[in-house]
Amino acid sequence: MSETLSTATDNTSNSGPSGITGASILLDKVTKHYPGQDSPAVDGLTLEIPAGKIVMLVGPSGCGKTTTLKMINRLIEPTEGRIVLDDDDVTDINGDNLRRRIGYVIQAGGLFPHMSVATNIGIVPKMLGWSKEKIAARVDELLELVSLDPAQYRDRFPKELSGGQQQRVGVARALAADPPVLLMDEPFGAVDPITRQRLQDELLNIQAELQKTIVCVTHDFDEAVKLGDWIAIFTDGAQLVQYDTPERILANPANEFVENFIGSGAGLKQLTLTRVNEVDLAEAVVANSGDLASDVLSRLDDARHDHAVIVDQKNRPIQWLTRRQLTRIDRVSDDRDAKLPVVGDRATLNDALDTMLVSSAGAALVTGKRDTFLGVINVETVMDAIGRAHTHARSAHSSGRPVGVNTGTLQAVESQGGTVDDDDPSLSAAGSGQ
Ligand SMILES: Nc1ncnc2c1ncn2[C@@H]1O[C@H](COP(=O)(O)OP(=O)(O)OP(=O)(O)O)[C@@H](O)[C@H]1O
Ligand SMILES: [Mg+2]
Repeated sequence: MSETLSTATDNTSNSGPSGITGASILLDKVTKHYPGQDSPAVDGLTLEIPAGKIVMLVGPSGCGKTTTLKMINRLIEPTEGRIVLDDDDVTDINGDNLRRRIGYVIQAGGLFPHMSVATNIGIVPKMLGWSKEKIAARVDELLELVSLDPAQYRDRFPKELSGGQQQRVGVARALAADPPVLLMDEPFGAVDPITRQRLQDELLNIQAELQKTIVCVTHDFDEAVKLGDWIAIFTDGAQLVQYDTPERILANPANEFVENFIGSGAGLKQLTLTRVNEVDLAEAVVANSGDLASDVLSRLDDARHDHAVIVDQKNRPIQWLTRRQLTRIDRVSDDRDAKLPVVGDRATLNDALDTMLVSSAGAALVTGKRDTFLGVINVETVMDAIGRAHTHARSAHSSGRPVGVNTGTLQAVESQGGTVDDDDPSLSAAGSGQ
C-alpha cells in the first residue's frame, strides 16, 4: 500500500524532507472578465499560496471566490495574468494535463451517479494509465484514509451513501493521483453541522499526514478559522480585504467589512481558536468488545468512574456504556453506536461544546488519527481551557505572511518578497505602505 502511495507521489509532487507534498501557488495579477459583464469577476488579483498550507477563501456571494478557485486549475481561463505552480508557469499548458495534477472537490462530492465508489475514485488514475491492481489498492487505501470501510463501500453507488459519505468519497477521489494541490469549493456546505464538523476534523487529519496545498472556498467564517492556516477575505471583484492568519484577522480586523464578516464568531473567538488537542483530556476506563461486563464494572469501581469506553480492535470507540447498561449484559458486544458523541482532536472547543450538548453524558470522546481513541473532553475541561487559552497560540500560525494584493487598489497586506517579483511596483508599495 505505501508503495502505491510513494509511486504516485513520485509522479506528481515533490515530497521534500519536510514531508510537504504540496506545491506553492501564485496567482499573478489575475483578472477574469466574463463576456457581457460590466466589471470583472476577479480584478487584478495577486495571491501567493504557500506550499503545504490550507488557505481559505471567504467573502459574500458573487464576490468571485469560485471564479478565483477555478482559475487555479483553469476550469475557468483567466482573461489576464499568470498562474504559477511551484516554479512552473501553467497559464498556457494543456488544461487537462494541469487538472490531473490538481484535485478538485465540489459540494456534495460531485460524484458520477452511474459509477461505483471505486470507479469514481479511480477515474484519474485510470486516465493516467495505472494498472487495475494499482488502482484497486489505491482506492482501498483512500477509503481507509477517509474513514470508510473499503469492503463495505467500494462497490456502492453514490445514491446508496449519506451526504457526508459522498463528501468523503469526493475527497478520496480528489486525492486519488496524489496531486500536490487540492481545490475545494464549499465542500461541507450540504451536510448537517455535526457531520460537517467531523469532515472538517478528518480533512485536518488527512492534511497532517499528507501536507498538500489546499485552497478551500467557504461562506462560513468559523470554518475558515478552524481549517485555515491563512484566510483571504474578499469583497466584490475578488478585491482582497485581508489576507492573514485566523488569529491575526480575529485580533486585528482590517476594517469594518471584516469586522462585520467575522460577526458573532468573534464572541466565541477563544473557543474557535483553541483546539481539543491543546487541552488536557480526562482519562477513561477503556474496554474491548468481548470483555466480561462484571470485569468492566469492577474496573469502573476502582477508577471511580461511571462510564466505560468500548473500543474495537483498531482502538476506535464503538460504545460508551454506563454502569446501568453494563449490569444488564454479560459481555460487551461489538455493536457500533452510531450516535456516539465523538470529536476529532483537531476540532475546536466550539465543536466540542456542540457535541457535548447533544450527548447525554455531557462530555465527548476525543479521537485522533484514523479515529483512534485519545480521551474524554468535558465541560469542565473546556471552561478551564478558556481561562488559559490565550497562552496557547497555535505555533503553526506564527510565521511570516504570504503576499496578496489587487492591482491598483492596495489592501492591508504586507509584502514579504518570496516568489513574487520584487520589481512589481504594486507589491513594493504594499510592503512599504501598510
Ligand atoms: N459564467 C459566467 N458568466 C458571467 N458571469 C459569471 C459567470 N460565472 C460567474 N459570473 C459572475 O461573476 C461573479 C463572481 O461569481 P463567482 O461564482 O466567482 O462568485 P462566488 O464568490 O463563488 O459566489 P457564491 O458564494 O455565491 O458561490 C458573480 O457576479 C457572477 O454572477
Ligand atoms: Mg461560489
